[in-house]
Amino acid sequence: MNIAILGGTGKEGSGLAMRWALAGHSIIIGSRDATRAHDKAVEMRERTKKLAIVGHENAEAAALGEVVVVALPAPGLFATLPPAREACRGKVVISTVVPLTFGGPRLFTPPPAGSSAEEVQALLPEAKVVAAFHHIAAHELAEAEHAIECDLLMCGADPGAKAVVSELARSMDVRAIDVGPLSNAGPVEGITALLATINRRYKLKNSGIKITGLPS
Ligand SMILES: NC(=O)c1ccc[n+]([C@@H]2O[C@H](COP(=O)([O-])OP(=O)(O)OC[C@H]3O[C@@H](n4cnc5c(N)ncnc54)[C@H](OP(=O)(O)O)[C@@H]3O)[C@@H](O)[C@H]2O)c1
Repeated sequence: MNIAILGGTGKEGSGLAMRWALAGHSIIIGSRDATRAHDKAVEMRERTKKLAIVGHENAEAAALGEVVVVALPAPGLFATLPPAREACRGKVVISTVVPLTFGGPRLFTPPPAGSSAEEVQALLPEAKVVAAFHHIAAHELAEAEHAIECDLLMCGADPGAKAVVSELARSMDVRAIDVGPLSNAGPVEGITALLATINRRYKLKNSGIKITGLPS
């Protein structure tokens, strides 16, 4: 599958890119700057020994992807997504975005829409948005020689889009658990604030979650 990652030069996006490239997917790294995207793609090709990794400016990357991943800081959504709206029409769009504000009185600062994923859906109304991958830390993704131990929670309106996300999770040996409609994205994103707090308190880089009680 061709996967475009907006903000793919960052920690979470490049971790996902690496895992998916190693699983045999084709990756388009997106950036505000085409040269930065290209340089990251060269670095990722060297690290993974996989050739199907290229870099483009974000909107061009979105046009080239069958699936588009939004791996941007929450404040970047309003500038980045409107130019990619046409390119995302009808596509599965995965939001990894968590509205965190470091250094203030509250770490978790969701927008009026309720969650960053719902903000993504409002900015890309014709896309099939699924919120997912918030609980797999960049550090966990980057250590590609290790299996990822945690589960993935996903939510969204479109069952077909969630099936695609499940398949992409399975391709990196991660179990995806469907937690319902996109209106559940607020609590899903909020868990990342807890994981970030656990990481800080226990001096970790990659705490995650696992759901018990499900049939294997
Ligand atoms: N890091 C994690 O462990 C982790 C885990 C779960 C979820 N997340 C979430 O995933 C998203 C990405 O996380 P990250 O740690 O990869 O973030 P990041 O490294 O801070 O940023 C990702 C990329 O976004 C672009 N960017 C930065 N500020 C921007 C702005 N104002 N407007 C548009 N683009 C901007 C940058 O790329 P260019 O400069 O090349 O454009 C940057 O490389 C965040 O919402 C985060 O909360 C992160």
